[in-house]
Amino acid sequence: MAAELPLYLLLLLAPLLAAPLFLLLVTTRRTPRGGARLRLPPGPWALPVIGHLHLLARGLPHRVMRDLARRHGPLMLLRFGEVPVVVASSPAAAREVMRTHDAAFASRPIGPMSRLWFQGSEGIIFAPYGDDWRQLRRVCTQELLSARCVQSFRPVREDELRRLLRSVASAAAAAAGPVNLTALISTYIADSTVRAIIGSRQLKDRDAYLRMLEGLFGIMPGMSLPDLFPSSRLAMLVSRAPARIQAYRRSMRQIMDGIIQEHRDRAAPGDAEEEEDDFVDVLLRLQKEVDSQFPLTTENIKTVMLDIFGASTETSATTLDWAMAELLRNPGAMEKAQHEVREALAAAGHSTVTEDSLANLHYLRFVIKETLRLHPPATMLVPRQCQSPCQVLGFDVPAGMTVIVNAWAVGRDPAHWDEPERFAPERFETSAKDFRGRTSSSYPSAPGGGSAPA
Ligand code: HEM
Repeated sequence: MAAELPLYLLLLLAPLLAAPLFLLLVTTRRTPRGGARLRLPPGPWALPVIGHLHLLARGLPHRVMRDLARRHGPLMLLRFGEVPVVVASSPAAAREVMRTHDAAFASRPIGPMSRLWFQGSEGIIFAPYGDDWRQLRRVCTQELLSARCVQSFRPVREDELRRLLRSVASAAAAAAGPVNLTALISTYIADSTVRAIIGSRQLKDRDAYLRMLEGLFGIMPGMSLPDLFPSSRLAMLVSRAPARIQAYRRSMRQIMDGIIQEHRDRAAPGDAEEEEDDFVDVLLRLQKEVDSQFPLTTENIKTVMLDIFGASTETSATTLDWAMAELLRNPGAMEKAQHEVREALAAAGHSTVTEDSLANLHYLRFVIKETLRLHPPATMLVPRQCQSPCQVLGFDVPAGMTVIVNAWAVGRDPAHWDEPERFAPERFETSAKDFRGRTSSSYPSAPGGGSAPA
């Protein structure tokens, strides 16, 4: 979450923003009919107006929240500005949010800046729970991320991998010092993903699209003043975020319109050029086919293109990066992984690794699981919003509350993992535990029973 606000500014604005907050505080602990007090989760003492925002200055949010959870419990109630946030930090709390009350927590919170950004076409990740939500997930699981579609991009992945290996080799030959593997991995993931989404490296607007995506994470709605004080008109007036989001949105939409038009022209009858379908081709085909009751609009298509890029690049690149870092820090594990790869190559009679070899690389699979346990790329997953009042670990969670699952804390819970801070892929040799939550000890699947194709 990108912080827009220095703390001193928040304190300065405090008296002006305090009126709606006062109302919120008065109503929060009462049931809708003003009856018995709710049993809300405990939390630390809060400052007037800013709530617990000042605590985030102590360090990385997932670490700060894990430390707070040690004192206040696996389900805590914090407040960032006006926004009450429930934080789940143990496997049991995560399971209740993500499994037991899956449907109640299937929607994501949409603040004023996200509303400005999406303008009614929320895509896969942020669509509110309902018919559109179901339709977009169906498109995702049955079409874009189906085994057939993922398999169809194998030549793209293998080609981009060869490019990565060539870049590493030439950087190593040229450099006197260490090679920046993080940068090379990140380019490799971005290039492979963009090729899957919009296709060919020759596409006219490809470079503009890539540049735009690189800037996307800097502009994405986060902890802006209007998001922290959604009921305050003043917050909207003094913040620079709305103007930045609107300007970025306009130029982004323009580039994407160009890409979509190029795909439409290419798909026109009489166009002789044969190429593997990319995600935009699939989405345009579905636009013509799907149930007209829930049409897939061109705006939906643009948001899905951004969702897939956003959901897959940073996560995959960070996982690869951490896996390499842990292997370098643990020479024993590195040796075991290298030995396994060499054996698999010798058995297959190949000189290079292909995706066929992956099924036999069991130790490497444990390395990835252990990397995801210790370093989940989305440390606090994607926030959820409670749609109907429910109870988690015996506490009341009223409708409208934002709920965060601290996956980083869940993966390091000493009650569930021996030596939780140690990188030990071997722990998965004998354990049925899985980072997707096939058992409860780490973070489970995406909302609605689906799962990220991690
Ligand atoms: C190592 C790689 C990856 C990791 C660790 C990862 C992890 C995650 C996590 C933690 C979530 C949020 C779950 C939640 O809040 O409930 C998520 C959602 C999602 N991921 Fe992944 N992911 C990875 C790769 C990918 C790839 C390659 C794609 C697509 C090509 C993808 C597509 C999605 C989508 C569409 C969602 C949203 C699902 C929803 O909201 O229902 N992910 N992923």
